[in-house]
Amino acid sequence: MVRAFGFLAVAMAILALSACSAHNSDLADCTTYVVAGFRRIADERSQRFLGKVQEDTARCRGGDRAVAFRSSPWVDWQNYWAVGDGASKAPGLSGEHIHLSPNGRGVDGALLDLEYQRIESIKFNLFDNNGTFEQYIQGRDNIDGSALKVWEQMRLPRNNPFYEAVGADGPQLCRGELIRARTLTGICNDIRNPLMGSTGQMFARNVEFDTTFPELGNNPVVKNRHGERIGLVKPDPQVISRRLLTRTQSDPAKCNNGRGLPENSPEANCDYKKAPFLNVLAAFWVQFMTHDWFSHLVEGSNGTELMTMGCATQLEAGVERPLTAEQVRQLNCRPDDRIDKALISVETEPSSFNRGAMEYLTRAPKTTENKNTAWWDASQVYGFDETSRRRVKRDPDDPAKLLLVKEPSGEAYLPLLQRGDPMNPQWVGQESVAFADNWSVGLSFFHNVFAREHNLFVDAFRARAATTPDADCGLRNPATPSRAIRYRDVTADELFETTRLVIAAEIAKIHTTEWTPQLLYNEPLFLAMNANWHGLLKDFPQAREALEKIVAQNFGPSKDVKEATQWYSVFASGSGIFGLGNHVYADEPIFAKFDPLKKDLWDLSNPDHVNGGINHFGSPFNFPEEFVSVYRLHSMVPDLIEFRDLKRDPNVIRKKIPVLETVRGKATQALRDGGLANWALSMGRQRLGALTLQNSPLFLQNLSMPRLPGGSGKIDVLALDLIRDRERGVPRFNEFRRQYGLKQLTSFDDFADPHLPKDSGELTEQRRLIGILRESYGQHRCDAAKVITKAQVNDDGTPINDCLGHSDGSIVDNIEDVDVVVGMLAEFARPHGFAISETQFQVFMLNASRRLFSDRFFTSSFRPEFYTQLGYDWVMNNGPETMIEKGISNGHQSEVMPLKRVLMRTIPALQGELAPVIDAFDPWARDRGEYYSLQWKPRNGAESDEAFTRQRRTE
Ligand code: HEM
Repeated sequence: MVRAFGFLAVAMAILALSACSAHNSDLADCTTYVVAGFRRIADERSQRFLGKVQEDTARCRGGDRAVAFRSSPWVDWQNYWAVGDGASKAPGLSGEHIHLSPNGRGVDGALLDLEYQRIESIKFNLFDNNGTFEQYIQGRDNIDGSALKVWEQMRLPRNNPFYEAVGADGPQLCRGELIRARTLTGICNDIRNPLMGSTGQMFARNVEFDTTFPELGNNPVVKNRHGERIGLVKPDPQVISRRLLTRTQSDPAKCNNGRGLPENSPEANCDYKKAPFLNVLAAFWVQFMTHDWFSHLVEGSNGTELMTMGCATQLEAGVERPLTAEQVRQLNCRPDDRIDKALISVETEPSSFNRGAMEYLTRAPKTTENKNTAWWDASQVYGFDETSRRRVKRDPDDPAKLLLVKEPSGEAYLPLLQRGDPMNPQWVGQESVAFADNWSVGLSFFHNVFAREHNLFVDAFRARAATTPDADCGLRNPATPSRAIRYRDVTADELFETTRLVIAAEIAKIHTTEWTPQLLYNEPLFLAMNANWHGLLKDFPQAREALEKIVAQNFGPSKDVKEATQWYSVFASGSGIFGLGNHVYADEPIFAKFDPLKKDLWDLSNPDHVNGGINHFGSPFNFPEEFVSVYRLHSMVPDLIEFRDLKRDPNVIRKKIPVLETVRGKATQALRDGGLANWALSMGRQRLGALTLQNSPLFLQNLSMPRLPGGSGKIDVLALDLIRDRERGVPRFNEFRRQYGLKQLTSFDDFADPHLPKDSGELTEQRRLIGILRESYGQHRCDAAKVITKAQVNDDGTPINDCLGHSDGSIVDNIEDVDVVVGMLAEFARPHGFAISETQFQVFMLNASRRLFSDRFFTSSFRPEFYTQLGYDWVMNNGPETMIEKGISNGHQSEVMPLKRVLMRTIPALQGELAPVIDAFDPWARDRGEYYSLQWKPRNGAESDEAFTRQRRTE
């Protein structure tokens, strides 16, 4: 906890730019950097932090090793003390948990760097596509743009059925039934901006509009950057997929292109590179999440027009040449693959405006709609429009519940889609759920688990209602805010919607405090993610409440731009974002502690209380297109699932089931055949695929698409990942990094991990892959007269040109043309325990915080008036009561984590298997070892598990 206070103290110091001095001789290395003060938040995009610190700072936080890697393009904090496993700690008695010790400085330094990056991302990376961008830049009514809170563009239009209810032509304000719970289409989350985040709003951008759609070559800088080298199928996406993404096999017959062996023989094997600290549940979990957050497709389809998908050309000595039949055969790609073109919402030329000498576009040259609600509202389960809602089946015996049908096995599962249900023909035989596309056994698993959890909460509520029918359940009707609602008076519809709120909050908590810290497995990220949720001051409620009040009541409504954005973000890490503004006191909360009469004044009839905890930082919330790109995590999926049986020996792999045999309608049958407990065990113990080159599932390269007429009837989903990003104008990798405030690369060689010894086999393998990158994207003779970006400048202040620091006229790598998905898989140098790359992380850091900051149901409306007291406690305690984990992991004692609790409740047979598991996304039979170890060693009792005894060459 010393760290929490220390961090905040330092964090405050950053922004106040107050200098302090060090007295401890142990801090000698730190004196210069401390006395010099902390760096300013950049005023200009070109002055951004870039994750790179001064030499003294690096030495202070990580010694000579941290200094040694400063010249690499990768963020510096990964080289600080104690941010890796035990070996990263400073030698000797370094005082692990003391703020000013070397290890403390390492971890705190990393947290500071992360906070700088979050603040600067909030400042430089918000670009709304719904028409508010000009106000963001110009400001309005003497309010700086980034402090604006309400926008005309976020009003409900006339054709919305709730137009009158929110105030029609007058000032719009959601009230009454519209504010009680999450609405179907996501309107009225922000009660003063009813349209924000609702179904059909435009995807935002995180990059400057004039850098989007580089393929259009709309301005000279973009043309300079890529010449004529890029297009929708240029470089050829299928060729890139086959050369750079395909998993190579030691025994192709045993893999059979991802189809395994007859009768799911356990002798089958598809090699894949594995992440030792994440399991297959984590892969399907994040797909389950993306189906909550965004979708570009309508009912699983795009437009009607089909287009080719490459397998036509490749670069030979830098020249694009048609593929010969023999090359097509060798590459194993398909020239006749066809796919429906992406849906585009608006593609008229955007208008522009000026501020000072700068000219801006008002939106991107083309925009696309998020066909889902952008809120974290469990809409994949409960629906996001009328059509998807028709697939959500409620139990006729108790309409507060979701329908689960008992099978002969005695287990209850979600019902199947019926003929009268709206569906894409590809979905026949699947469970009836709101978001039904790209269905697999993993999605079927999570949908069933959360349907059970929904019903368990309803049961718990009904049980409470049976014992205390006349007690106040905490819920209130905004039309009669002062009237208590007794348990017995709660209607089935009210309970259904309340339960949805609880489930959505549980899901968000699982993702923030259990999935993400395992995906980014190190101490700074454990602290940072918990700070996002609970705050760094979790165990100090009075201090937390004081901060919370400062954040929500002082900085939130502030018209001072610095307070509204920078301070808000820093202070929120102390108090946590979850629950911000859900208490209001007359006095400072810190004093209220000593006041026996202290009263929480939060009032449902006061719109400023209902809405008071949110902050959109001047730009209406929606996910940016770039966020979708970095969630293209298909490499996480293995080709074969190692199926186990809980009742027999869980250490034995009984079958190898191709994931292909568990997609769409087959998922539903597979789940029932295997049973939830066995699927949980199997996906819980198996490691997922590492996000790296040549590690994408073979079955996804050959996925049948019955909905598409003509062509080969198949698609290569990995090639489609590249095509969709190009269709939607995502900048290519190097500019993407510059836009997000990361260092650019100057050649493909920069991808090699600088931490590896020169003679290491891993480095040799990386160099081999870098060679293929160079062949696939090519090289060109550079022209130093061509400026290629406005986002950053060289260290000496000169513009960055086509030669990227190499001499004019020399041959340089086409590093500017690398697709984002390929570039992020090629990032071999990563912070310890990072399953994703630092580029992906930069995108997550901004948007993961924003989707909490912007949602009133996670901030000021996280209240019993909406959730009921039982629901509020259920979210806080991860279930009906708090449970503390017995052991200490990575130096922390924690509550039993929320997904672990959900699994133990909904699948009680798992309780024994889960007992030693700390985080449900860590492979269940792995020994977590000491301090963020990535070792692949069995825990006690799992020594005979074949996943440990049969190590393969790719591990
Ligand atoms: C069996 C497993 C999976 C299958 C069959 C599958 C299939 C597909 C297909 C066919 C598309 C292309 C849709 C289109 O643009 O026309 C797609 C898009 C996508 N997939 Fe997967 N996928 C699977 C697993 C995953 C996983 C584990 C993730 C992890 C997050 C993921 C993330 C995405 C994302 C972010 C998109 C883009 C969605 C959009 O454009 O709105 N997928 N997937």
